[in-house]
Amino acid sequence: MRAIITGASAGIGQEMARQCHAKGLEVWLTGQNRDALTRLSKELSDAPWLSVDLSQKEGQIALLTWVADIEIDLWVNNAGYGAWTDVIDAKEDQLEKMIRLNVEALVHLSRVMAKKMVQRGQGRILNVASTAAFLPGPHMAAYYASKAFVLSFSESLHWELRGSGVTVTTLCPGPTRSQFFTRAGMGKMPLLDGPWMPIMSSGAVARAGIRATFSGKRRMVPGIFNYLSSLAPIFIPRFAQLGILNWLQGTKNQ
Ligand SMILES: NC(=O)c1ccc[n+]([C@@H]2O[C@H](COP(=O)([O-])OP(=O)(O)OC[C@H]3O[C@@H](n4cnc5c(N)ncnc54)[C@H](OP(=O)(O)O)[C@@H]3O)[C@@H](O)[C@H]2O)c1
Repeated sequence: MRAIITGASAGIGQEMARQCHAKGLEVWLTGQNRDALTRLSKELSDAPWLSVDLSQKEGQIALLTWVADIEIDLWVNNAGYGAWTDVIDAKEDQLEKMIRLNVEALVHLSRVMAKKMVQRGQGRILNVASTAAFLPGPHMAAYYASKAFVLSFSESLHWELRGSGVTVTTLCPGPTRSQFFTRAGMGKMPLLDGPWMPIMSSGAVARAGIRATFSGKRRMVPGIFNYLSSLAPIFIPRFAQLGILNWLQGTKNQ
């Protein structure tokens, strides 16, 4: 069995790669950071790796060309990041570039892989969204919206593929220890500083995602606190969600 993992150079993706390898899967790694990929490849019996920027069309094509002739049992769309900024303060192309990775690359890679897997009559796709998918997120508006897209798109794809032998699982982690917060430029805020906010390890999140994927589940929200927050939209009106998230993610500008 072979697994391809995007965003395998750090955090949740790196842990997924380790866990798939430990399960006996042949793991192929992609990310951007060559040093991190080289190190992980050595650790995982010289796993093949490719450094690509998936926010660029050329990067997406290079990845698909790299895997064109192999059979793939598990495809993980994990690469993604956030941007902690108010919309009008964002740098030119900052939000658009993030959306090209979090949304466009994920759609493109899911579509091509799903088609290939359906022709073979088997396969698993794991798409990484977030608990951000369930709520609007002032000060990280485009990131929250991108993850809402990932959840909606991936669950619909899961439904479309019923009976084909191919399943699509959406993993919705809450706050998780990784490079995510530094990469997003996140500083002090109640969301991360409050004692009420349990932060899970990348290993625990990866384990829950891989297990759910091999069981063919549609959605996995790891951790009880995260699961409860995924239910918040049922009980909390939208204007109150906006107020709560505005406070939790309050920026230095306020
Ligand atoms: N950590 C959290 O709190 C949290 C919560 C909910 C959802 N998530 C989601 O979980 C996923 C993994 O994030 P993480 O927490 O593991 O963060 P991370 O440690 O920052 O890892 C992100 C991964 O994405 C890759 N990546 C970033 N930009 C890329 C690009 N342009 N092209 C190709 N690869 C790129 C990175 O590669 P390089 O390092 O090589 O650039 C890295 O391997 C993301 O989709 C994120 O949105 C995270």
